[in-house]
Amino acid sequence: MDTRHYFDAEPTTASAPRTVTLALPDLTVSLATDRGVFSAEHVDPGTKVLLTTVPPPPGGELLDLGCGYGPIAVVLGLRAPASHVWAIDVNARARGLATANAAAVGASNVSVAAPGAVPADLRFAALYTNPPIRIGKLELHRLLDIWVPRAMVSWMVVSKHLGADSLARWMHDERGWSVARVASRVSYRVLEVRP
Ligand SMILES: C[S@@+](CC[C@H](N)C(=O)[O-])C[C@H]1O[C@@H](n2cnc3c(N)ncnc32)[C@H](O)[C@@H]1O
Repeated sequence: MDTRHYFDAEPTTASAPRTVTLALPDLTVSLATDRGVFSAEHVDPGTKVLLTTVPPPPGGELLDLGCGYGPIAVVLGLRAPASHVWAIDVNARARGLATANAAAVGASNVSVAAPGAVPADLRFAALYTNPPIRIGKLELHRLLDIWVPRAMVSWMVVSKHLGADSLARWMHDERGWSVARVASRVSYRVLEVRP
């Protein structure tokens, strides 16, 4: 059985570097990807929905939770040059790609790091995530419990088929967070969450 996942800390899948294009109304970038990271073949449609839906990022500290090869972090860094973007991921190969992609587009305000490297007292003006649904419900809830309370607002994109509505209910009913569905497009929901 193949037990490899895009959220493995050290992917063992043989490397096969490639480039994908992220085209948005306001900018287009080429990004390096590789096997062993999430959506290596093309920019995930949910990620594109998130990036075309959210309002312009505020200044200050921003967080890309589960950055993968960095499409969200890179766009935040370019859209808000005065901000500082933390791009965090458990997958070392993804972190390497995100670091290279931020450098390649000149987004020097992006810091790529393992989750444990983020200073514990840091709070975020905004959090952005295409969350790792595949880690399982309990792990996902644990992850959101760690990061969402540290951000003024969290913007999340979740596929309807992967439980966007039940996740929204859990955040609202079990955690008491304010949850608004700001967009529903191509089978994805974009949620605005405030703790
Ligand atoms: C659905 S992917 C999104 C990747 C990227 N943001 C994108 O839009 O293409 C979720 C990412 O979360 C990462 N992840 C899984 N568990 C995590 C954790 N505990 N802390 C931070 N990132 C995690 C995975 O490795 C994966 O790269």
